Amino acid sequence: MKVQKIGVRPVFDSRGKETIEVVFRAKRIFSAKIPSGASRGTGEASVFTPAAAKKSAEKVQEKLRGKEFCSLREFDLALLALDSSSRKEKIGGNVALGLSIAAARALAFEKNQEPWELLSEEFFPKVKAPLPLLFSNVINGGAHARSNLDLQEYMFVADPSGDLLGAVRQLISLYRELGALLKKERRVTLLPRGDEGGYALDFSNNLEPLELLQRIVEEKGLGRTFSLALDAAASQFFRKGRYSFDGALRTSQELHEFYLHAAENVPLLFSVEDPFAEQDREAFRAFLKKAGKSMWVVGDDLTATHAEEIRNARGLVNGVIIKPNQVGTVTETCEALEEARKQGMKVIVSHRSGETSDQFIVHLARACGADGVKLGAPAGERMGKYNELLRVYTV
Ligand code: PGA
Ligand code: ZN
Repeated sequence: MKVQKIGVRPVFDSRGKETIEVVFRAKRIFSAKIPSGASRGTGEASVFTPAAAKKSAEKVQEKLRGKEFCSLREFDLALLALDSSSRKEKIGGNVALGLSIAAARALAFEKNQEPWELLSEEFFPKVKAPLPLLFSNVINGGAHARSNLDLQEYMFVADPSGDLLGAVRQLISLYRELGALLKKERRVTLLPRGDEGGYALDFSNNLEPLELLQRIVEEKGLGRTFSLALDAAASQFFRKGRYSFDGALRTSQELHEFYLHAAENVPLLFSVEDPFAEQDREAFRAFLKKAGKSMWVVGDDLTATHAEEIRNARGLVNGVIIKPNQVGTVTETCEALEEARKQGMKVIVSHRSGETSDQFIVHLARACGADGVKLGAPAGERMGKYNELLRVYTV
């Protein structure tokens, strides 16, 4: 693959905020659109504005134009040689990732492959891809909604067990069921929604939405194929060593007890992401020790898709979220995945709250054999990723 031209154009994400599309000419034009998060970990790669990204792309073009690359790793190493800073402050994490994804597409095209096939061959040759659990955020709180919920995401988790299409169908029907029930209970005809398409309403406390989701799953008799998960995104409500939670300042221990109480009262709850703030490492350790046998304790802000952070999170979590734009190249994302596997951790490939129509993460999930994918509510702009999932997992 020979690099001919590199550029950046501003595009808008699902929140209507400006982000970038990287345009890359090799044999023909390839591109990649980059999503953005609202609850970001401190270790995440830098995000350049479209104007700064454009300048950065010009500089990268000067260095790479006319160069030939045989593999994605080789291309990404060339990017890393231009910027070895941990947060990619020189070329911009979003610029680097756009280039890396577009280069993956160019290489796949030249080999007459789907992007997931290229990733699979280069990074995960021995991996068999089982169908992933579908983590679907149906009640939005925290930084994704203007409701009183401190916890950011309440998710239905569908287990496709051999029938992906059926699982997506059931997920859509449960999501609608939930909407119908909320409308009836609240006596409204329309429901506000948060950034990831979940319903965004006030509740009497942070436990109530979980109890509601469990009730719906059980009433429909779907307790075998559906379970529940939370993303607390607890860094967002951490203030000077305490958690501003359910109307009071709580200690880590009190929050720990809340999760145990939730798991006891809502047996379908099996996974909690970022239960504590990223700097509250001892709280993670104590919680994993207590709950890690029966629950997935998942790091997101804590590990930020960096292999080294994942290594350091041993004993703190037994699962990690993987978001390529937290680290900035596909190769480093795959290294983070490899490290997670080495540690025996579950991996969940995830979208961001500010999404685009770019479907690359679905290819990544397929190639690495992800245990789960997090794609938001089955509605609106999020639907594209469910459809891509159906395409790449049923070839
Ligand atoms: P973000 O949230 O994309 O707004 O960072 C998603 C998450 O915390 O998992
Ligand atoms: Zn998260």
